[in-house]
Amino acid sequence: MSGQMPPSDPQIVLGLETSCDETAAAVVVLQDGRARVLSSIIASQIEAHAPYGGVVPEIAARAHVEVIDRIILQALAEAGIGFDDLTGVAATAGPGLIGGVMVGLLTGKAISLARDLPLVAVNHLEGHALSPRLEADVPFPYLLLLVSGGHCQLLRVAGLDACERLGSTIDDAVGEAFDKTAKVLGLGYPGGPAVERSARAGDPKRFDLPRPLKGRLGCDFSFAGLKTAVAREAAALGTLSEQDIADLGASFQAAVGDVLVDRTGHAMDKMGLEAGEAGRFVVAGGVAANLALRSRLQALCDQQGWTYFAPALAYCGDNAAMIALAGAERLALGLTDDLDAQARPRWPLDAEAARAAPMYKTGRKGAKA
Ligand code: KG4
Ligand code: ZN
Repeated sequence: MSGQMPPSDPQIVLGLETSCDETAAAVVVLQDGRARVLSSIIASQIEAHAPYGGVVPEIAARAHVEVIDRIILQALAEAGIGFDDLTGVAATAGPGLIGGVMVGLLTGKAISLARDLPLVAVNHLEGHALSPRLEADVPFPYLLLLVSGGHCQLLRVAGLDACERLGSTIDDAVGEAFDKTAKVLGLGYPGGPAVERSARAGDPKRFDLPRPLKGRLGCDFSFAGLKTAVAREAAALGTLSEQDIADLGASFQAAVGDVLVDRTGHAMDKMGLEAGEAGRFVVAGGVAANLALRSRLQALCDQQGWTYFAPALAYCGDNAAMIALAGAERLALGLTDDLDAQARPRWPLDAEAARAAPMYKTGRKGAKA
């Protein structure tokens, strides 16, 4: 962090996101603490990776290089502005696939240098954490359930650089479990949306799958056993009918829902609210696009008297609007980065907790890795 510069209002920020298999650029305005998305362009690489059943880092990095210039120009054109109208440029600097992260960060640095704009090197996870603030007034502090292809964490978000990890997965991320379940069910890649779609016609009670760590103390997660149990049931059935696939997907999704609700309930207790204080809960990340899981979490909030927030579906998966917003919020506080900002494959939101308990796998190792 290079430190302070005089903050200005409004902030008009170009955001760049290239940490995985989406090349994205967006323009966000932040004025009087309110965000407005002027454009959000996402070029997905799904087709390039689909034959391999997961993201291939080298292919991802090359694909980002090929399209990023065009995507940036498209984002500016759709926003109806030029480089001269910007007050800053923000790029994801990690965590993620390092080749891709370098493409976006270097492009951000080049724009910063050429246009004399302040640079913000954004933590991709902070982008997800702030994503509900793109559309709603969600004041700090709040409880965040971050569920994506590489991450599954509960965090107390008290502000920028003020995240406390309450719990995390001890093995697989939840999106990774969705992707692997989809593979076992022959639903292809990416798996989450396919499992959700198929599960709509399924019986969630047909298979008695495990609910790892449910009822245990604390807020940690585990999904490896659940994923294996799905594979075992599928193998026992042999050839899977449409109905088998739907029932297995629905049973898996119900188990995930039970675990998320249980762990989030524990985290609500850990937030330590004063009597009468209203809690705020946010679910974000790619898996937050799952409507069945959203409604389970909303029901938990209703039952506990907490206010529920989730980003619009377009801002759940990887996008650059959330990166532009994180950049704008940082710029509004006068926080900028130098041109020697590092691209980081790993970058935990709560560095202290990650140092204290390094056995937590905060990095990406699933299909999205
Ligand atoms: O946030 P994201 O786009 O990338 C990461 O930062 O990881 O999350 C992608 C993950 C994938 O594992 C994908 O299968 C999962 O989110 N996902 C879903 C759904 N849509 C995406 N999982 C369950 N249900 C969905 N509807
Ligand atoms: Zn993400």
